[in-house]
Amino acid sequence: MRTVVTGCAGFIGSRLSEALVADGATVVGIDAFTPYYDRSDKERNLRALEGEQGFSLEEVDLSTARLAPLFADADAIFHLAAQPGVRASFTDFDHYVRHNLLATQRVFEAAKDDRVPRVVWASSSSVYGDAKDYPLREGRTALEPLSPYGATKKACEDLARIYRARGCETVAMRYFTVYGPRQRPDMATRRLVDAALDGLVFPQYGDGQQSRDFTFVDDIVDATVRAASAENPSAIYNVGGGEEATLASVIALVEELSGHSVDVDRREASRGDVRRTAADTSRARTELGWTPRTSLRDGIAAQVRWATEVRSGVA
Ligand SMILES: NC(=O)c1ccc[n+]([C@@H]2O[C@H](COP(=O)([O-])OP(=O)(O)OC[C@H]3O[C@@H](n4cnc5c(N)ncnc54)[C@H](O)[C@@H]3O)[C@@H](O)[C@H]2O)c1
Repeated sequence: MRTVVTGCAGFIGSRLSEALVADGATVVGIDAFTPYYDRSDKERNLRALEGEQGFSLEEVDLSTARLAPLFADADAIFHLAAQPGVRASFTDFDHYVRHNLLATQRVFEAAKDDRVPRVVWASSSSVYGDAKDYPLREGRTALEPLSPYGATKKACEDLARIYRARGCETVAMRYFTVYGPRQRPDMATRRLVDAALDGLVFPQYGDGQQSRDFTFVDDIVDATVRAASAENPSAIYNVGGGEEATLASVIALVEELSGHSVDVDRREASRGDVRRTAADTSRARTELGWTPRTSLRDGIAAQVRWATEVRSGVA
């Protein structure tokens, strides 16, 4: 299979690229190395792909580059590039417009022109906002995002619907709080593990009772790969790990698994943060044959191990 992975140097995109290459696919990886976090982190993410025959890197920006030549002959595009993060979307919205809306419309348009059979792309649980009922279900739960970031992902879902009607088969994966090795430095679990290992203060926004449906990165990759080859896939899938946990319980787990206590600095709840997420994943289970396989305990243990290896120069 000939594939394109956008955002290949990022947290999820690099793991996905590795999984595809290991499966015998070729990957044209696209990344602009945006400065949201350190380039050196992204270069480290790509290290395992260095010298791989099946992988090539194109450092281009999807919001400006000519995409048709890069997409020609692809069997599938995995579009993961984006400007993530809820908090910064209130102040730096121009980045979200460019890297989410503009980039995604250009990806869909070029994929349609190149007749790429399928585009699997990263949406987010953020499209739901605070719901009236849980679990959150595709096609049932209202989409009322609480952040500008969530609003851009919701708008991207509209773009995907428009292009699907125009013959470009788009499949949206609504990822729920992804964690594990290589997690982005702005994300709570990463900051928590860093605080535990380096003796730093962990700023806790809110009362700690907010909960998330945590999803291990390899389970996210598995669902995403399955969506590329499924027969008659739906337009949208929830991808959630199935183990809802409060921030307070994750703090306790990180303390236990790292062997260090964490100094918590309690702050006001952050704008845009929802109180709860919990995915109904029956659609992905039935149609993609997908099941999340990593427990929160095993996944956090893997993330602590990785962070320790980074500190000792092994990872
Ligand atoms: N991590 C999560 O918990 C989570 C949850 C829901 C959805 N998502 C979505 O999953 C995708 C991957 O997230 P991640 O956590 O790996 O983020 P990441 O920031 O680690 O990776 C995104 C990559 O995209 C690249 N990029 C951004 N704009 C680009 C552009 N215009 N052209 C080319 N490359 C560009 C960045 O340089 C970065 O390497 C994103 O679409 C994100 O919104 C992530």
